[in-house]
Amino acid sequence: MAVISKLSINHFRNLESQYITPSEEINLFVANNAQGKTNLIEAIYYLGHNRSFKTKTIKEVIHFDHQSFQLNAQIDNNRIKLEKTKNKNTITINQQRISNTSQLSQILPIQIITPDKGFVVNGTPKNKRSYLDWGVFHVKPSSVKAFKTYNKVLKNINTLLVRNKIDELDFWFLALAEAAAKINQNRIKYLQQLKQTVFSDSLELLSTLINPLDQFDYQFSSGWPKEVDETNQQSIYNYLSNNTHHLLKVKHLNYGSHKASIRFSLNNKNECFLSRGEQKTLSIIFWLTQVLLLVNLKTKPVVLIDDLSSELDNKKINVILQYLKALKVQTFMTDIGHNLDVIKSINPRIFQIDNGVIKVKD
Ligand SMILES: Nc1ncnc2c1ncn2[C@@H]1O[C@H](COP(=O)(O)OP(=O)(O)OP(=O)(O)O)[C@@H](O)[C@H]1O
Ligand SMILES: [Mg+2]
Repeated sequence: MAVISKLSINHFRNLESQYITPSEEINLFVANNAQGKTNLIEAIYYLGHNRSFKTKTIKEVIHFDHQSFQLNAQIDNNRIKLEKTKNKNTITINQQRISNTSQLSQILPIQIITPDKGFVVNGTPKNKRSYLDWGVFHVKPSSVKAFKTYNKVLKNINTLLVRNKIDELDFWFLALAEAAAKINQNRIKYLQQLKQTVFSDSLELLSTLINPLDQFDYQFSSGWPKEVDETNQQSIYNYLSNNTHHLLKVKHLNYGSHKASIRFSLNNKNECFLSRGEQKTLSIIFWLTQVLLLVNLKTKPVVLIDDLSSELDNKKINVILQYLKALKVQTFMTDIGHNLDVIKSINPRIFQIDNGVIKVKD
């Protein structure tokens, strides 16, 4: 179970040196536009991922007037410190330096809901994969090995294709097929677990977000062509091997597990036809189901929700809050403050952000 009991932030975007003591349950950060709400959510996300969801450039997240930022947090019994300059990166867990980011993610599993990262329903395949693989990783941390191998082998294959090195390809096709079959098995199993979670009784509250007669569904799309049995190593290998000449022509592997996605639908209507409000509501159902599955498996993630009330009516906001409260997951949410009454009903710890300074609101 992950709970941040103390968080200190130094020079992260507009957030100057300060620390906060969050509640174990729901924390609400209220501010007008451009005060630092998304920056705070980004800082907590950074702690769990060692990267931002908004940019790949470290310089952008360091305060304009400084050369480095530091984030420091007490999470359960672990002390995490992260310090970044433009070209140096230091992460320590309990004063031990680490280089493996997956350790961070295990200590601080984060489920994030923010318009800046985009919705999962009608989102980009990359965004869908990132949520899918987040779940796969937290349900089965050892799955990270197959992902790492796959990415390394894919890079080698693409280099060989560019250099026309046909003789060396076979070895790497075998390695890719082995990793891809494992990834597909893990992803399929995870989505099955997720669907069973959706249909369990404990999710009744969440299902009130949509009409009871509505059919919300999602299907795995492996990224491999239809004729490939995606869970079978031999079938993947045969396909790669039989299509070598085509691949040498296009000079990169244009299908595979790195192209996987999830296809969402509501009442058999494809996700692209849904309204933005529907896309947001269904995305939230999907994300919160992921949270519930992990809670059931005794891994409690920290939930980040930026801009809670935009595009949602009071009834929906209320259901989401009641649900998070019932799950007892630590939640950090931001809001502009127009719907405070409905949010206050669940007794959050309320902070105010003014120009990058966070204070407990009395
Ligand atoms: N590296 C940086 N150094 C200093 N300030 C920065 C940096 N990066 C962004 N900012 C500033 O931080 C401020 C707050 O940004 P943030 O995105 O957190 O606002 P917000 O409260 O989420 O606003 P909104 O309600 O519009 O979403 C902005 O004015 C932005 O210009
Ligand atoms: Mg914002």
